[in-house]
Amino acid sequence: MNYPIEIAPSILAANFACLGDDIRAVERGGAAMLHVDVMDGHFVPNISIGVPVVASLRKATRLPLDVHLMIESPELYIQAFAGAGTNMISVHQEATPHLDRALAMIREHGCRPGVVINPATPVATLSEVLGNVDHVLVMSVNPGFGGQKFISGALGKIRELKLIRERYNHNFRIEVDGGVGPENVVDLVRAGASMLVAGTSIFHTPDAADALRSLKELASGALVQRA
Ligand code: DX5
Ligand code: ZN
Repeated sequence: MNYPIEIAPSILAANFACLGDDIRAVERGGAAMLHVDVMDGHFVPNISIGVPVVASLRKATRLPLDVHLMIESPELYIQAFAGAGTNMISVHQEATPHLDRALAMIREHGCRPGVVINPATPVATLSEVLGNVDHVLVMSVNPGFGGQKFISGALGKIRELKLIRERYNHNFRIEVDGGVGPENVVDLVRAGASMLVAGTSIFHTPDAADALRSLKELASGALVQRA
């Protein structure tokens, strides 16, 4: 199975005072979806945005919305985010003792379920859910903030996930989030990632559309070499 490269700009790095303009820029650049980081100040030491912003985004773009929940008890909020018009919802393995239930709830509410692991969490902890997810998100920074340095241990986890996917005939996409940019995107794609989340390396540049375009070109080139 071929997994096309999908660039997911993380709006955490956008300018919230003119979010609509930033979204149009990444639409022009060829974004596959928008990555939306939801933080509760408990699971991670930061607070970001919630359901009303997702509802506004839904009216402002036709791009799929990829909601990354960095919150405790994510089950309590799945219905609200689904109702606000999100397409994909990812929950952290570390955030709930009822991961299987949370993933089933996401599907029941009409969204694609994803599971996320922090840098300190091994891939092995996901063995029982890999058949039930649309995507696995490998954190390549400790979640909570944009603009952090890429943790290279993520590459090994991506390779491991790709091997497991082949061995067991799973079909989840592999997503990576944190410190992703032109300097590591080729290695990430070669390792097996196809959904590439990028905040700083897209929005903190003079031209977000251009930055996205060249990131996508680099990543797609690596895909050709991988095939
Ligand atoms: C971190 C968030 C990321 C973040 C990535 O907790 O999950 O999505 O916005 O930002 P950069 O690309 O700047 O590392
Ligand atoms: Zn994220």
